[in-house]
Amino acid sequence: MLPKIKILDEKNKMLHMVSKDITFPLDNKIKTALEDSLKYLEMSQIEKYSEKYHLRPGMGLALIQLGIPKRAFVVVDEVDEGKFEKYIIINPKIISHSEELIYVEEGEGCLSVNRPVDGVVARYARIKVEAQDLEGNVCTYRLREDLSVAFQHELDHLNGILFVDKIDKKDPFKGKDRMRAI
Ligand code: NI
Repeated sequence: MLPKIKILDEKNKMLHMVSKDITFPLDNKIKTALEDSLKYLEMSQIEKYSEKYHLRPGMGLALIQLGIPKRAFVVVDEVDEGKFEKYIIINPKIISHSEELIYVEEGEGCLSVNRPVDGVVARYARIKVEAQDLEGNVCTYRLREDLSVAFQHELDHLNGILFVDKIDKKDPFKGKDRMRAI
């Protein structure tokens, strides 16, 4: 069954709110929203379900996209055919990052942005993130390439920033030569 979640569209001003830190023990509403989001993303990446439910495949969702202004997001990464690595990330902080910048050549996507958007979004090639898990334990993540981009995209959501906000409207490919395409 597809979890019943409603993803806010970019026109909704809530998406520009700065989300608040989460306290522990975790509220049940937050826990359920995170688990539903994981399930939704996984299903969106499985063709059978994305066709059946008309889902756009997505890799990440932040709670604010469900209208909950709290600092957490989930990421689902298909590491192998039909095998998914799932991340629940609460109160994250980037503690270090590479100098090298990358950008997604085909453009980033977002389940809240329902239109094609061209342009370059600069992201660190590698980041180290500290965050809490569902129990409140502090974990460290070392991320690179597409996972690094996904985490930075979701972290931006917690600060009310959409990827489209980072694209220069007059010159969408500005700065491209200083970055590596992935
Ligand atoms: Ni997004």
